[in-house]
Amino acid sequence: MNSPNNPMPWRLEWCQELSVHIPEIDAEHKHFIELINALNEAIAEHMSLSEVRKRMQDVIDDAVAHFEHEEALFFEWGYPDIEQHAREHAAASQAFAEIMRRIERREMEHEWAEAGLHVKQLLADHLLNEDMKYRDFWLAQNN
Ligand SMILES: [Fe+2]
Ligand SMILES: [Fe+2]
Repeated sequence: MNSPNNPMPWRLEWCQELSVHIPEIDAEHKHFIELINALNEAIAEHMSLSEVRKRMQDVIDDAVAHFEHEEALFFEWGYPDIEQHAREHAAASQAFAEIMRRIERREMEHEWAEAGLHVKQLLADHLLNEDMKYRDFWLAQNN
């Protein structure tokens, strides 16, 4: 995925290992990955500032809605780690918002590639480390 020959080094692909076995959540994660890829494409292809900003805003809006949805499900399930997971969501949202502020202030046009990579990494880490914990809980409860 991060091979130096890959012209889109940040491109994320959804794969079965990322499944949390809850179809509605998998669909949201797939959509989120598409939005991250669209942002990275805008950065890699040196699109306009307004296009990069728009795509970053799409990522943020989608993240906020998705995080709220997960937390509502945790509440329904009585998931014991809801607070810790919600803190991770808040930290990711803050990091996204900080990147957006820097884009808005045009502080880092030369650093956009790095910003795109950072956004991708945040999402990938959250999915692999945090969301997998509730997958295990949910599977244990429902099998
Ligand atoms: Fe999450
Ligand atoms: Fe998630």
